[in-house]
Amino acid sequence: MWRRAIEDAVGKIRRNLEQHGLTFPHITNEKRYEWSANEDWIEGFYTGLVWLSYEYNGDPYFKEQAQLQIGDFKRRLQQRICLEHHDIGFLYGLSALAGWIVERDNDARELAMQAADHLMGRWRSQGGYLQAWGPENDEQNGGRIIIDCLMNLPLLYWASQMSGDPSYGEVAYKQAELSRRFLVRGDDSSYHTFYFQKENGNPLGGGTHQGYRDGSTWTRGQAWGIYGFALSYRYTQDPAFLGTSKRLLRYFVDHLPEDHVAYWDFDVPIEEHTSRDSSASAITACGMLELLELLPEGDPDRAWISDSLERTMQSLVMHYATIGEEAEGLLKHGSYHVRGNSGLDDYMIWGDYYYLEALMRLERSVPGYWYERKDGIKGIRNF
Ligand code: GLY
Repeated sequence: MWRRAIEDAVGKIRRNLEQHGLTFPHITNEKRYEWSANEDWIEGFYTGLVWLSYEYNGDPYFKEQAQLQIGDFKRRLQQRICLEHHDIGFLYGLSALAGWIVERDNDARELAMQAADHLMGRWRSQGGYLQAWGPENDEQNGGRIIIDCLMNLPLLYWASQMSGDPSYGEVAYKQAELSRRFLVRGDDSSYHTFYFQKENGNPLGGGTHQGYRDGSTWTRGQAWGIYGFALSYRYTQDPAFLGTSKRLLRYFVDHLPEDHVAYWDFDVPIEEHTSRDSSASAITACGMLELLELLPEGDPDRAWISDSLERTMQSLVMHYATIGEEAEGLLKHGSYHVRGNSGLDDYMIWGDYYYLEALMRLERSVPGYWYERKDGIKGIRNF
């Protein structure tokens, strides 16, 4: 079943590349992608899909296309196009770092290092956090962190391993620890966002941007936390991160509806037209696969995690994927920003990416592009 799903996905990715050239899929409410330039936070997911396709069948067309896209990411970094945010890991991890991981391409490695340097520029030493959005003096976002950032930290951990300079990993570690203390609540649910006083890092309070309300649990935020803390554990071996990832996952699984695919917020009233967020479930599937890599055989949590993974993937493949359909996207029924009325019940390019990453982990043991694959990489804390 996984192989058929991958074949179908890879065919769609090839058709998209052929039809849309060097443009990138963006979100609409039209049940289709809008194709435009590389100037949002999401383009790396498309390049990640191209690399996964290449790793699946070795077709040189995919490698060429991925490398063309990396060229565009290089131009973007040189020209600083829409890079005043922390999603540098999503953009450059799945493009440049992937190019290094798959092809050992030194130019791609160099670009990934430059991207890590750019991300380091968002560290606010007075407050002790990585600022999520906007310039330093931004009125609204100056003291803000968001849970999504956990998935940008692997680029920094990797940069420390690659360069031998501990400062990248130190920043990543501090951000993960801060996130654990302030974004995760006592009942293992999470805030999307938390504010600090810029001058001294005093905590001000939690809230949301894309969730249902300030104290609710936005499902995709919870998913970013599950996978992100697992990856922080991989790099640091700090058991607190492993425990946090598992607890966030337990909360996620305990609040799923019958078909095991999340609605867009765990606190939203469920009515006939309430949107799912299939992308949150795809991210969580990858988080579960990562946890299963990290947990030793015989760990008592493996059984329920494996069971939940199986149910999630079966449901996504059988009821949410576009297998056999004329479609540009891979996964239906994602949500972007429901309260903002943007990206409702539609394809989400990151949902497509994590769905294919999960399938490739299951079918080919290809774990995406969050860390190097060489032996012994697990748990090196060299900073
Ligand atoms: N990182 C933004 C989102 O998940 O929508």
